[in-house]
Amino acid sequence: MAFPYKKVLLIGATSGIGLELAEQLVPQGVHVIAVGRRQDRLDSFVAKAGEAKASGVALDIAAIDKIPAFAKGIIDAHPDLDCVFLNAGVQYVMDFSKPQTVDLAKIQHEMTVNYISMVALTHAFVPFFQEKAARGDKVAFIYTTTALMSLPYPMVLNYSASKAALHAFIISIREQFKHARQPIGVLELVTPLVQTELHNGQPGWGPDFNPGMPVVDFVKASLAGFAAGDETVAVGQAKAIFDEFEAEKGRRVGPAWAAIRKAMGKAHTFD
Ligand SMILES: NC(=O)c1ccc[n+]([C@@H]2O[C@H](COP(=O)([O-])OP(=O)(O)OC[C@H]3O[C@@H](n4cnc5c(N)ncnc54)[C@H](OP(=O)(O)O)[C@@H]3O)[C@@H](O)[C@H]2O)c1
Repeated sequence: MAFPYKKVLLIGATSGIGLELAEQLVPQGVHVIAVGRRQDRLDSFVAKAGEAKASGVALDIAAIDKIPAFAKGIIDAHPDLDCVFLNAGVQYVMDFSKPQTVDLAKIQHEMTVNYISMVALTHAFVPFFQEKAARGDKVAFIYTTTALMSLPYPMVLNYSASKAALHAFIISIREQFKHARQPIGVLELVTPLVQTELHNGQPGWGPDFNPGMPVVDFVKASLAGFAAGDETVAVGQAKAIFDEFEAEKGRRVGPAWAAIRKAMGKAHTFD
């Protein structure tokens, strides 16, 4: 079985998990539109994959006001786009027991990149996917989250909070699309510790210390999960944590909303 989408907009494709996803998707016949801030990395990916199979568009997703025009440009150039994979992320270490070390600008930036920009990108592509889904095309958003959304890691407390926010958004929009009978896939990749650039510059991390799952193995397992049709692909140690803390939540959100609608009539529905 192969990856179920043919043209993927991959946000955060210049290193780590995103770059490896791009490099494993292209040989499967998937056209990858790679996005990140580093133009040189985008250029070398496209040069290696070939322009028939890959494209690169530079964007700083923290520039929220640029997202609508970015989305229009992508949709105009790639009307056959069928998957938006929201993988970008940043992670900052901070310690509130030493508040003088906490940089509020970093908190804001982390929340913007990991959450607000994901919401803004989703918002920008929903009308396009609604039209495609109404025509019977299979389309999906995929989001990269982490085991830390369920079990916050105190060293990266704001990162954990930003991903918890993203996960809450994911399970709610999934229910909204289902309720509106709009068959737009909302998929999630729940990630354990993986060897990437995410922790570069953090205390103790360096060329001799970057533990976690090798990125090639992680991406192979992830793509196997999506090829099998899984809505949530949780890999390695992240699977045990997801199953313990999140699986039941995902099952209950829809029925709980239905019960509230039943009890409250029109109060809590947009119908
Ligand atoms: N590695 C782990 O242990 C781990 C664990 C759990 C979850 N994750 C998640 O996996 C995802 C990928 O991270 P990674 O581990 O592969 O780290 P990475 O190697 O640092 O890659 C991060 C990617 O995000 C992009 N990005 C960051 N800020 C951006 C911005 N403002 N605008 C556009 N693109 C931006 C980077 O591109 P540019 O720098 O070129 O902009 C890069 O392509 C993230 O969502 C992360 O939270 C990773």
